[in-house]
Amino acid sequence: MDFYDVLRTAGTARYYKEDPIPDDVLTRVLDAARWAPQGGNRQPNRYVVVRDPAKKQALRDLYFPVWREYLAKAGVGEIAIKGNLIPKLLQDADYFADNFHKVPAIVVVCAHMPDIHPTDLELERDPIVYGASVYPAVQNLLLAARYEGLGGSLTTLLCAEEPAVKAMLNIPDPYATAAHLALGYLSKPFPSKLTRMPLTEVVFSEEFGAPLYPHAE
Ligand SMILES: Cc1cc2nc3c(=O)[nH]c(=O)nc-3n(C[C@H](O)[C@H](O)[C@H](O)COP(=O)(O)O)c2cc1C
Repeated sequence: MDFYDVLRTAGTARYYKEDPIPDDVLTRVLDAARWAPQGGNRQPNRYVVVRDPAKKQALRDLYFPVWREYLAKAGVGEIAIKGNLIPKLLQDADYFADNFHKVPAIVVVCAHMPDIHPTDLELERDPIVYGASVYPAVQNLLLAARYEGLGGSLTTLLCAEEPAVKAMLNIPDPYATAAHLALGYLSKPFPSKLTRMPLTEVVFSEEFGAPLYPHAE
């Protein structure tokens, strides 16, 4: 598969088949995560692959109420969601949340907090650098999954239930849960192209706001 097609079509998958992921495929996908950059090459990430039905059910039962709370806030505009297809997005995400336990594999991404060195703590805003050594690996994993023909979803809502997830999966301190990734073959086709802002609106030349591509599509 063409690399750029992988990028353009690795959307957040909501509808999965229950077929298991072959071990060799799963291994390649997990291996892809290792090659991502991390600050100081400290390699903070660990991955717990959850396939046990009872554990997946327990994760679903933790996730669903958190999702529904988010959904309620999105419904009254308290949380902004972008795009023209918001009802469809929320409906698909609601189905996904309700069926979280049926996804063949849920990968719990854990980050070893002493290996995280945020460089923006002194600024007068919320820090954003905390995740910078964690999520490149997550994206590597998701892109490899797409390349292998697997759908994937990056979720972070369940991180709010970190103590319960850590207790269930014996995740020790000082690890944090950074994401829960759903992985599996899809029961609906991949998107032909994701919906994103045009290059003209997000790339600037020499100073913020001055377009590099004023006439591009
Ligand atoms: C940091 C992050 C956290 C996310 N958390 C969730 C989540 O908890 N639950 C969920 O259903 N989707 C989650 N998503 C998926 C986004 O809703 C999705 O990427 C977005 O709607 C765009 O859809 P697309 O990736 O298919 O283009 C998350 C995505 C990111 C990048």
